[in-house]
Amino acid sequence: MSREYKFLMKKRLGIVTVGGDCSGLNSIIRGAVVRADMIGCELFGIYRGFFGLFPESFNCVSLTAKDIGEELLTSSGSILCSDTKSFTTNLEHGRSQKEILQLVCDGYKKLSLDGLIYIGGDGSLTILKELLDYAPDLMNVVAIPKTIDNDVNGTDFSVGFSTAVEVVADAISKVRSTAKSHQRTIIVEVMGRDAGFIALYAGVASGADIILVPEFEFEMSRVVSRVKENYDSGKKYCIIIVAEAVEAVNLKHQDSIPCGESSKYHLIKYKGIGQYIADYLKNVGFESRAVILGHIQRGGTTVILDRIIGTSFGVEAVNSLIAGERSIMLCYRGKQIEKISISELMRGINKRLDESDICVKIAHNLGVYIGESCSL
Ligand code: F6P
Repeated sequence: MSREYKFLMKKRLGIVTVGGDCSGLNSIIRGAVVRADMIGCELFGIYRGFFGLFPESFNCVSLTAKDIGEELLTSSGSILCSDTKSFTTNLEHGRSQKEILQLVCDGYKKLSLDGLIYIGGDGSLTILKELLDYAPDLMNVVAIPKTIDNDVNGTDFSVGFSTAVEVVADAISKVRSTAKSHQRTIIVEVMGRDAGFIALYAGVASGADIILVPEFEFEMSRVVSRVKENYDSGKKYCIIIVAEAVEAVNLKHQDSIPCGESSKYHLIKYKGIGQYIADYLKNVGFESRAVILGHIQRGGTTVILDRIIGTSFGVEAVNSLIAGERSIMLCYRGKQIEKISISELMRGINKRLDESDICVKIAHNLGVYIGESCSL
């Protein structure tokens, strides 16, 4: 095959990270870049999510294996930067939802892409569905689930979740020494939005005494008696892990920031449940402190599982697009990469904890209090 002919045949793919960052995004990008290079197709990195496709902030660059290093396997964040605000910013500036979708399509056409690797969480995947409905014939998209929250259905684990759990478990082991030395109760508040996966998995993995998640209701009286048990039994300290969206009586801990014409883009920020529980326990006689882990959960050295899943997703996304597949999301299920159509995913995109989860069973068997519907 002549060089010129090969060049003409080169497929052009794009890759974009949309939504909150997490660890493992760079592993996905590296996997895709190395694979694309190997099979002779061009891969364009789109900067700052959708911002990189809008005319006023258009920013895309060709990515080649020689320009990226293996350090990407371990580094958090996204070398392409990400975006949680492109739609809301545009709505605020008076563009309609339809106009914004059209601009994304225009950006895709401007790059003459044959396919797009779309890395996003539940919110970004919902926007993707809107895009695919708006221009059903234009884009060939393979989506990859990423979020520390692990709340995307279809996949056992989203990229970023395992590293977040590692970070939280590590933080718990660090506060344990203070809890023990000062005979205190420490409440560790973690992220996860409306899903309790981070709290439950990190709590089980680090031996927390009480784990409170949004999926399972809890009684403060049971929390208090469980803390008391720890002191009475001689342990004399207690570690509680609470997911940010857990609700308590009288606690207003949601800031809802409505934006633009569509309630779909409301941003809800959770705050305060950790401190609420600490104050409550202090009032009933237990010296307590709240530790809010915040965004450290999205950083850290990418753990092996996220590197492996991320790399496999990156490689498989390129392979799938080259094979002509479109409108699918890649999933990790029982050590295999599987595929689900975006429309099937949208029938129930949000995953929540339920009683069949392995960590619920472990918690039950070890007497960890995880709420009323899940107590022994
Ligand atoms: O969805 C990921 C996540 O980290 C949530 O766990 C958290 O509630 C939210 O994003 C924080 O968002 P932001 O970085 O915009 O404050």
